Amino acid sequence: MIEEKFIFEQRGDTSINAGSVTWESPSNIALVKYWGKTDPQIPKNASVSFTLSNCHTNTRLTYHPKENHKEKFDFKVFLGGNEEISFRPKIESFFERIVDYVPFIRDYSFKIDTKNSFPHSSGIASSASGMSALALCIMSLQKIIDPQLSTADFLQKASFLARLGSGSASRSIEGPLVVWGKHLDISGSSDLFGVRYPGEIHEIFTTFNDTILLVDKGVKQVSSTVGHDLMIAHPFAEARFDQAQNHMRDLMPVLKEGNLQGFIKIVEKEALSLHAMMMTSDPYFILMKPNTLEIINKIWAFRKHTGCHICFTLDAGANVHVLFPDKDKELVDEFISKELAGYCQNNQFIKDHVGMGAKAISS
Ligand code: PMV
Repeated sequence: MIEEKFIFEQRGDTSINAGSVTWESPSNIALVKYWGKTDPQIPKNASVSFTLSNCHTNTRLTYHPKENHKEKFDFKVFLGGNEEISFRPKIESFFERIVDYVPFIRDYSFKIDTKNSFPHSSGIASSASGMSALALCIMSLQKIIDPQLSTADFLQKASFLARLGSGSASRSIEGPLVVWGKHLDISGSSDLFGVRYPGEIHEIFTTFNDTILLVDKGVKQVSSTVGHDLMIAHPFAEARFDQAQNHMRDLMPVLKEGNLQGFIKIVEKEALSLHAMMMTSDPYFILMKPNTLEIINKIWAFRKHTGCHICFTLDAGANVHVLFPDKDKELVDEFISKELAGYCQNNQFIKDHVGMGAKAISS
């Protein structure tokens, strides 16, 4: 399926000299989760995420006109200064998926220098920040070739390309809240790209913190690609997709009114529903670890005891994202260091907060 709207047609001689472009793109944490898709990366339900800030990928794309036209795509990829050949297959298939929309990528040799602000083996998925950073660099190249490209079209197409690399990457371009996936109640929402959440957002939600507790930094036993595929024949799939669509709808007044109780209920239900899908897939699997459950129980007890508006969410792994508004920061920070850090590998956690999206970095 080709989306005509995003095809870039080069007219005349548009060749450009060598150069480089750099983007810093954040990770995001889904409040309503995407789990299940059809080809090509079309989600089975809408999702919404907080864009993060401190957890980001910085990618510099250096390009020069290709001399050797033997290979379809000519690129080298470096992580933290070292060539990382294990990244090649993923980037090769990303280029293959996007080449119809950005045909000029065949005409250049690329050096992709990428580094993450978070530890490589932290169990934090780098695909959202990594793929969005690369998609933005490629869009910057399109913009150099076609300077008339508007900012709105630039951002929309960057999200469209990022989605083809990794679904959740489509939500990392802008902030503070991004929706991806068509939802009848959310105007402008699309299965093809993420859009800034268009509804009213109470200011309390722009002050949210996400402290990521690194419970398990190992490689996941089941990748999200496999997990998404297991939703195809999942006996509870349709009920799950309906639940997510309903949660999206229910979240709208919650976000508008600053209803923190309502927020906590939806967000925690989403996290546990995601993992319930994993536990009831065929084959079934569990990504949570004993310490994930210890932390969840501690958070519930602390919330009951203090009345703080703290809650948790999970992505496809054992790490726990602790979400709380600034007003509770002092108490929660102390609680995390004193009572939760001990459940993390090497007592490690990362403090992050809601951000406004990716940034171009001038060289
Ligand atoms: O973008 P992917 O294919 O890595 O899938 C992400 C899935 C979750 O992180 C579990 C949920 C989400 O919406 O981000």
